[in-house]
Amino acid sequence: MIQMYHVFKHYPPNIHALADVTLFVEKGEFVFLTGHSGAGKSTLLRLITRAEIPSAGQILVAGRNVLALNPSKIPFFRRQIGVVFQDIKLIARKTIFENIAFILSVMGVPFQEQKKRVYQILKLVGLHHRMNALPHQLSGGEQQRVAIARALINHPPLLIADEPTGNLDEEMAWDVMTLFDKLNMKGTTVVMATHNRQIVEMMKKRIIHIEKGRVVEDSGARREPA
Ligand SMILES: Nc1ncnc2c1ncn2[C@@H]1O[C@H](COP(=O)(O)OP(=O)(O)OP(=O)(O)O)[C@@H](O)[C@H]1O
Ligand SMILES: [Mg+2]
Repeated sequence: MIQMYHVFKHYPPNIHALADVTLFVEKGEFVFLTGHSGAGKSTLLRLITRAEIPSAGQILVAGRNVLALNPSKIPFFRRQIGVVFQDIKLIARKTIFENIAFILSVMGVPFQEQKKRVYQILKLVGLHHRMNALPHQLSGGEQQRVAIARALINHPPLLIADEPTGNLDEEMAWDVMTLFDKLNMKGTTVVMATHNRQIVEMMKKRIIHIEKGRVVEDSGARREPA
């Protein structure tokens, strides 16, 4: 699902956020990305989603060379990746329903179908009864779950999450992890950056540990993609 070969990311004048990262994530894997603040976790995730491009190296995601993507293909590429960040960016003046439905609307999905799909996905995160609320009427954890629902609306084969539990209390954080585990069991590949040691220890998944832009430990490394 993800192949990175000798990836470097340099920010001028002298920050080396990633240095010679080579790693492979298979379809259906669940991977935690750990490391101290500033280690390069978010940078790595931004390169996978092509929010940024590497200074050197090759990256393949879902069989596509992200650097060679034709700009017109980027929106289609991004639709295959569900992205969840710690800072939730819901649109303040739109309802929860509208915050999710607009993605389907852009894709030309008919309104009746939008209603059905948004309801289903909100049910998955336990917020179908809040469809008509505005974001500020929800708690932080509820807003985070809406952001997760929005990332999942297209049933993306790959879910990228950067500190998705950062704003949540312990119980809510476990709800999110249970949800990710469920999605993973249905086949979604999950890559999640986190500082939450307890979650990483309890979940027993592959751990890629980054220090100063380098992979220093990988509990499930393979030398070549299968
Ligand atoms: N846009 C940018 N411009 C310049 N430097 C950046 C930029 N983004 C990140 N960096 C630097 O790159 C390094 C890696 O940052 P990154 O955000 O990837 O770390 P992180 O592991 O996600 O940390 P945290 O756990 O705090 O989120 C840091 O030194 C950071 O200051
Ligand atoms: Mg980060």
